[in-house]
Amino acid sequence: MENFKFNAYTEMLFGKGQIAQLSEVLKRYGKNVLLAYGGGSIKKNGIYDKVQSLLKDFTIVELSGIEPNPRIETVRRGVELCRENKIDVILAVGGGSTIDCAKVVGAAYYYDGDAWDVVADPSKIDKVLPIVTILTMAATGSEMNKNAVISKMDTNEKLGTASWNMIPQTSILDPEYLYTVPAIQTAAGCADIMSHVIEGYFSKTTDAFVQDKFAEGLLQTCIKYCPIALKEPRNYEARANIMWASSMALNGLCGSGKVGGWTCHPIEHELSAYYDITHGVGLAIVTPRWMRYILSEATVDKFVDYAVNVWHLQPSNDKFALANAGIDATEKFFKDCNIPMTLSELGIDKSNLRKMAEAAVKHGRLEYAYVALNSDDVYKILEMCI
Ligand code: NZQ
Ligand code: ZN
Repeated sequence: MENFKFNAYTEMLFGKGQIAQLSEVLKRYGKNVLLAYGGGSIKKNGIYDKVQSLLKDFTIVELSGIEPNPRIETVRRGVELCRENKIDVILAVGGGSTIDCAKVVGAAYYYDGDAWDVVADPSKIDKVLPIVTILTMAATGSEMNKNAVISKMDTNEKLGTASWNMIPQTSILDPEYLYTVPAIQTAAGCADIMSHVIEGYFSKTTDAFVQDKFAEGLLQTCIKYCPIALKEPRNYEARANIMWASSMALNGLCGSGKVGGWTCHPIEHELSAYYDITHGVGLAIVTPRWMRYILSEATVDKFVDYAVNVWHLQPSNDKFALANAGIDATEKFFKDCNIPMTLSELGIDKSNLRKMAEAAVKHGRLEYAYVALNSDDVYKILEMCI
C-alpha cells in the first residue's frame, strides 16, 4: 500500500430533518450567504422554500441556473456576485454540478485573474470561501471531497481541479430529498458511485485489502438498492444507503493508498465535453467496454475477485469465463436500470472519436492507468461503445 493522507474533514449531518441545523451552521461564517442552485428542481420539491424560511436572519444572494456539467461562465457570474455582495459563505443546494460550481466560485473569489485558471491549474488555488452543502442527488461525492469538475464548452474542455481548501465545511444529507430525483438520474448516480469505486478497485496496488473490502461493500450497496429506489422512489432505506454510499465512494476511503490514475472518468469527461451528456450515463456505457478491452492474463485474477465477491458468481476453474461473466453482469445491471447503453442512443457518432481519444489520454494521463492506454486503445474502446 502507498503512503497517504486521509482527512474526512467535512461535518456530515445525515438523516431526516437535519436541515433544522442550517442557520446554526451558517452563523459560524457570517450573515451574507450566496445560495447556489441548479435549474429549479429545488423550487418544485420545496427545499428552496424551506431554506428561505430557515434563513430569515441572513442576507441571501442567489446564483441560480447552474447547469448539469457546470460552465465556467456560471462560475464567473458567481464570483462577481460574491465580490459585489461581500459574501461570507456559499450554500450549495443540489447535486455535484451545483456543489462543484460553488467550490470553484469560492476558490476564484480569492484569485486575481480569470476563474478558468484555477480549473486548469489547481496549484493556483489558495484560500476558498467556506462551502456548505445540502445534497439533493446521490452520485459524485462532491459533498465530502476536495474535487470539482467544470466545463468550457467553446473549447470542448471539461476538467477536474482539486484543493483541500475546497472541501465542504458541512454537508446536510437528508435521504428524503432524493425522493424526487428522476429515475434516469437515480440510475446514472448509482453508475457514478460504482465507477468511483471501480476506478480504484482495479489498481496496480494489490495489497490494499481494507480498501477493496470497503469497495466491494459499496458496490453491493448500489446493486442492492438502485433497483429498489427505481421501483419505489420514496423508499427511505434505499435512498439513505445510496446517499451514504455516494459520500463514502469518493472521500478517500476506498481510493487511498492505491497507485495509478483513473480510466473511465477521463474518457467520459471527453464525451461530456463534446456532447454534454449525463456523467453517470457515459460511465455506464464506457465501463463494461473498458473492462472487456483490458481483460488479459495480467488482469484476470482481479476480475475473478470482482465476479465472485461483488456479483456472487460461482467460483470456477475457467478464470476467463468467470471474469467475462462478471463484466456481463455489470453491463446487464446498468441496462436493467434503463440506462441507454450505446453512444448511438445518445446521438453520438464516430466523427469526434479520434479527437476525444487523444484528449482523454492527454488530460487523463492514461499512461499511468491500471492498464496503460494510448489514444488508439481509447479509440477502440469508444468504437465498442457506439
Ligand atoms: O438543476 P436542477 O433543476 O436542480 O436538476 C438536477 C439536474 O438536472 C436534477 N436533480 C438534482 N437533485 C434533484 C434533481 N431533480 C429532482 N429532485 C432532486 N432532488 O438532477 C440533474 C443532475 O444534477 P447534477 O448536479 O448535474 O448531477 P450529479 O450530482 O451527477 O453531478 C454531475 C457533475 O459532477 C461532476 C460530473 O462530471 C458532472 O459535471 N463530477 C464531480 C465529481 C466531484 N466533484 O468529485 C466527481 C465525479 O466523478 C464527477 O465528474
Ligand atoms: Zn464520477
